Amino acid sequence: MRKQIAAANWKMNCTYQQGEQLLDEILSANIALKGHQLTIFAVPFPYLIMAKSETEEENNYFVAAQNCYNKKSGAYTGEVSAEMLQSIGIQYCVLGHSERREYFQESNKMLAEKLDLCLQYDITPIFCCGEPLNIREAGTQNSYVEVQLQESLFHLSESAIKRIVIAYEPIWAIGTGKTATSDQAQEMHAYLRSVLAKKYGAETANAISILYGGSVKANNAKELFSQPDVDGGLVGGASLNAAEFITIISSLK
Ligand code: G3H
Repeated sequence: MRKQIAAANWKMNCTYQQGEQLLDEILSANIALKGHQLTIFAVPFPYLIMAKSETEEENNYFVAAQNCYNKKSGAYTGEVSAEMLQSIGIQYCVLGHSERREYFQESNKMLAEKLDLCLQYDITPIFCCGEPLNIREAGTQNSYVEVQLQESLFHLSESAIKRIVIAYEPIWAIGTGKTATSDQAQEMHAYLRSVLAKKYGAETANAISILYGGSVKANNAKELFSQPDVDGGLVGGASLNAAEFITIISSLK
């Protein structure tokens, strides 16, 4: 079975102490994850080492960075490289979140470069894609998201693409409380898998986890995750509440 993943994206929230407490509360619930189920915490850079040591003893719990830079190293004040993340044992990195695309002008091409660096340093990218409201209203969401995949991922070899996790996050559903219906999520996820299958073959496409993100909550996670092509979620707001996120983790199939 494909990996099913509950990924928390804390974004720019929590003090160090609040973050530590949140992790403690979630981990002390001792949720028994099955072999194919993972929980990942994408925390702010200054908390990576703390989160890593909190989760170290736990099976199937991992830590992710929320971003990294598209250059290997050098005079880029304030940036963090994939190699730095690897050097502190980080195994996942969120890339191309719509907030990065919007506020930091991250292009599909730049994301392709970040992806390559992550893979070079054995970090699994959680690659985000998704359409804004006007594209959804125009009904052109499939081709919009397909281009994001083509321009950022399709230079990868078959063995490299298998190392990626994709997160479909319709921008109109992020932080709005307006979740895509499970049918809308399933429809897009199946479409993305068909696009991957056309390029890399069905076996490879079927091995790639595709997460849904956008107002996932304790009360809708089970329904969303039960869809055949929805392999868990990338969760913002609800991941900051221990009880909510515990329920979301427990909703993985
Ligand atoms: O990365 C997470 C997404 O942006 C979803 O955020 O759950 O607050 O809507 P949200």
